[in-house]
Amino acid sequence: MLVQIKDLDFRYKNSDEYVLKNFNLDIEKGDIVCILGESGSGKSTVLRLIAGLEVPHKGIIKIDDEVMVNESTFVYPEEREIGVLFQDYALFPHMTVAENILFGVRNKEKGYKEQRLQELLKLIGLEELRERYPHQISGGQQQRVALVRALAIDPWLILMDEPFSNLDANLQSRIRQELKGIIKKTGITSVFVSHDKDDAIDIADKIVVLKDGDIIQQGVTENIVSKPSSKYVAGLFAS
Ligand SMILES: Nc1ncnc2c1ncn2[C@@H]1O[C@H](COP(=O)(O)OP(=O)(O)OP(=O)(O)O)[C@@H](O)[C@H]1O
Ligand SMILES: [Mg+2]
Repeated sequence: MLVQIKDLDFRYKNSDEYVLKNFNLDIEKGDIVCILGESGSGKSTVLRLIAGLEVPHKGIIKIDDEVMVNESTFVYPEEREIGVLFQDYALFPHMTVAENILFGVRNKEKGYKEQRLQELLKLIGLEELRERYPHQISGGQQQRVALVRALAIDPWLILMDEPFSNLDANLQSRIRQELKGIIKKTGITSVFVSHDKDDAIDIADKIVVLKDGDIIQQGVTENIVSKPSSKYVAGLFAS
């Protein structure tokens, strides 16, 4: 198991209502997992906890069997080696494509950065655009650059929060396929959240359905779609 979340309780500091209570989730290496749920169900909160941007009240998170957080340990976000791609995947506007991609890479070995950059540009087919600035490339191209920026540090996994919601409908389905292809090629474990069943069906190997902070069904995408365990889940996939 790559990620193990065990008996997690969490509430935001300014609120006395728990967003997650006794929350458990396992993510296997190499899987593309979609956390699917309505607005406010706790999707972003789960990602923020895995990334280390929030501290749980109780519970354990392990990555590759190493404790990231428990009652006595807290590994800081920058030390978790997780690639993060949030909704407003904003690239740094004053940096070129190449500079954006290499931003988080710390390896100082001679030639490493250039080699890594070339690999990543090849992966997204944007070798020619490396010296362009974000405003000089399309929305879909920006999305791909943001994805490889998250991959550049060779993370254990990448977390994506609604990665398609800023794209217009035409672009969305193309980018989904592109992104899935890129992720599959790298074999990297990916967790993304969405409220859109089409994102989940098109991309995810597995779906985790979240409602009011509880997982109400999870499993292989086809099984969830064909055998929803409740009216609620069936409703999510209707139409
Ligand atoms: N910073 C915060 N302080 C207090 N409460 C918060 C904070 N962020 C989120 N919440 C609350 O926690 C619950 C879960 O929010 P979360 O952002 O995880 O939902 P979500 O599923 O990502 O929703 P959306 O699809 O709208 O992004 C909601 O009830 C929300 O109001
Ligand atoms: Mg959210």
